[in-house]
Amino acid sequence: VWNAVCRSKDAVINLSVDKKEEKVVNSMDIEDIGDSIAFCRCWRSKKFPLCDGAHNAHNKKTGDNVGPMCLKRKSK
Ligand code: FES
Repeated sequence: VWNAVCRSKDAVINLSVDKKEEKVVNSMDIEDIGDSIAFCRCWRSKKFPLCDGAHNAHNKKTGDNVGPMCLKRKSK
């Protein structure tokens, strides 16, 4: 079943995050971000919406190539 789901173009992306919600939307105040932050784009992080490195295991298991969205404050 797992391989069939992974190969389907219509497969769901979100397997476990807030599945009871109609739509998962996260927000954060810019002032609370600090100097840098990494947001998860693989939907496998236990700290979602933040990256916890789970994309590495996902990529190894599936052959995918996803990674986080990293924001960094410019140094002045
Ligand atoms: Fe999802 Fe890093 S854990 S992108």
